[in-house]
Amino acid sequence: MFVYNKVSFSREPAASADAASICKDAARAGRWLAAKRSAWDWILMSQFLRAKVFNMAGYTPGEQPRDADVVKLNTNENPYPPSPCVAAAISELLHHGRLRKYPDPLGQDFCQVAGRILGVDPASILIGNGSDDILTILTRAFVPESGLVVSPTPSYLLYKTLADLQGAAFQAVPFAPNWSIPEPWPVRDAHLTFVANPNSPSGTMVPVSALENLAQQLRGPLVIDEAYIDFADATALPLCRLANVIVTRTLSKSYSLAGLRFGFAVAQPEMIRQLTKVKDSYNCDALSLAGAAAALDDQEHMLLNRTKILATRGRLTRQLRALGFQVEPSQANFVWVTRSDRPVKPIFETLKGRKILVRFMDYGVLGDGLRISVGTDAEIDRLLNELQGIV
Ligand SMILES: Cc1ncc(COP(=O)(O)O)c(C=O)c1O
Repeated sequence: MFVYNKVSFSREPAASADAASICKDAARAGRWLAAKRSAWDWILMSQFLRAKVFNMAGYTPGEQPRDADVVKLNTNENPYPPSPCVAAAISELLHHGRLRKYPDPLGQDFCQVAGRILGVDPASILIGNGSDDILTILTRAFVPESGLVVSPTPSYLLYKTLADLQGAAFQAVPFAPNWSIPEPWPVRDAHLTFVANPNSPSGTMVPVSALENLAQQLRGPLVIDEAYIDFADATALPLCRLANVIVTRTLSKSYSLAGLRFGFAVAQPEMIRQLTKVKDSYNCDALSLAGAAAALDDQEHMLLNRTKILATRGRLTRQLRALGFQVEPSQANFVWVTRSDRPVKPIFETLKGRKILVRFMDYGVLGDGLRISVGTDAEIDRLLNELQGIV
């Protein structure tokens, strides 16, 4: 029994040694009162929070610098503006006083547009506040406490965080050579298997035939995370005919709407009906629904930006290789860059000092590298100029 402020707790502070060290650090800096307060807050949090949440590291999103001068190539945003139809749709909604009312919980107008563009039944679409929201809904729906989430690795780090939050185990299956998936797949009993395709950080693709084979081997659902699919050659959308396949999409990348927050999932209509029970009723606001439908409807704009990005991606890949980097052939709006002759972290740090932000990613024994988003031609020229002086 532990008592603080007349409140008694059933367990002792989880790690009072850590509380003591917080105290010592702050005390050394001469902030006695703050030290005492933060140590107590820390102890209290260890009592209130689920142990899983208290002990987990949490997901660290890519840095979002406030300095507008920074060349930002670290979170795979689109360097070009979204379709002008997005602002027009949002403005129309604002001018018609529609914020007063709740949005359509199912986003049916969006689903109609997406169904037409993708050639799928609108009833097979689930809307999300970004595709991260969709990934959260899927984890909550399929994975019980102490369940198992599996993903090939290195891949999107959020999958492990979602497993942690759910109180589930996470098993990382290393990619086979050339970023292919092991065949046969070693873990068939997972409650949920995530495959990012194209994969992040590698930008590589697993062929649709290999994903179909994987779906057939699994006893649980397979989520194919197609956040970057508009920069790739082939989608796995046709696999949604299988009962255990869910394909997820985002408007953050190819549609230049990372700030709007909109994503969606495609699966069998019965699966979507079940998943709807798990999401927040109004997980997408009226502005994002209107903007997302307008963006999807303007395919011409998205494809124009795509063409520019693919051309810059090709040039970036060639010139990085000429500078001695190994660059994976990418089907996304970023490239994965490694070097065998020197560590890449100092390169990341030097670039950062010169206001060019790329993403350094360290996967332990599986190695580290730089993930570089494809920016405008001017941004990529600046990056390449700096790199010439560094390597
Ligand atoms: C593989 C992958 N999936 C999903 C997301 C999340 O996208 P959103 O902005 O829609 O939440 C990202 C974002 O970087 C990603 O890399």
